[in-house]
Amino acid sequence: MRICICSDQSQIARVGANQFSEVMKENSKAVLGLATGSTPLPIYQELISRYKAGEISFAGAQAFCLDEYLGLPAGHPESYSSFIRREFTAQVDFDDTTVHLPAGQSPEGTFVAEEYDSQIAAAGGVDLQILGVGANGHIGFNEPGGSLDSKTHVGILAQKTREDNARFFDGDISQVPDKCVTQGLGTILKARKVLLVATGKQKAEAVAALVEGAVTSMWPASVLQAHNDALILVDEDAASLLKNKDRYTNSLVSPDDL
Ligand code: GLP
Repeated sequence: MRICICSDQSQIARVGANQFSEVMKENSKAVLGLATGSTPLPIYQELISRYKAGEISFAGAQAFCLDEYLGLPAGHPESYSSFIRREFTAQVDFDDTTVHLPAGQSPEGTFVAEEYDSQIAAAGGVDLQILGVGANGHIGFNEPGGSLDSKTHVGILAQKTREDNARFFDGDISQVPDKCVTQGLGTILKARKVLLVATGKQKAEAVAALVEGAVTSMWPASVLQAHNDALILVDEDAASLLKNKDRYTNSLVSPDDL
């Protein structure tokens, strides 16, 4: 696990986008694991700018999104299917038929969930998976207390997650679905590279737990300690509770090198 502490959002955006550029340069048909939420947006914006400048193309790429709500009407603007298209893939040259989500074809999502890991494997596996993290340490929608080796599955959202996500639903928690389909922790661990991004003080406890705590299902992101190519990209606020912050700051992982 490498920790990179950035001074501001623009550095996060640049370093994060560089990880995508590298993967796409190595393989124009790369399989990208995409995340929703607010945190990756500056990185997607930077990638859109690079695409417009002719510096990167996603025409041959495929995308597998991490998770999706269950129970929203098709085309709901806050479904992750709408979100990822609006905020990223439809603004670059992704072939829309290669943008996959783990739900949507059955109301319960179960059948699709079971198929999703096989679809990812059939595509050759994820080359780069971008992740945000919930304040309670969830990645995707893997809430505390699940299996560390789970596959894509239907899950129940934690109260904290529904409260945090109410901001996307006019601040009204009753509009936030309570069920979801998410890639499992075992699914996420199979990605060849993982880039977890966290910004802001509200993520500091989760970042400390995932980097320096014990590997435990109670902090699901801590499972990344078992991944051999995970980059944790954080700002100063999100890094503020790290005990070994100085060591990471002075380590070989400098934003300028990534
Ligand atoms: C959501 C998503 C996650 C996301 C997390 C953090 O519930 N399911 O994939 O990483 O919460 O979101 P944000 O980046 O908006 O803080």
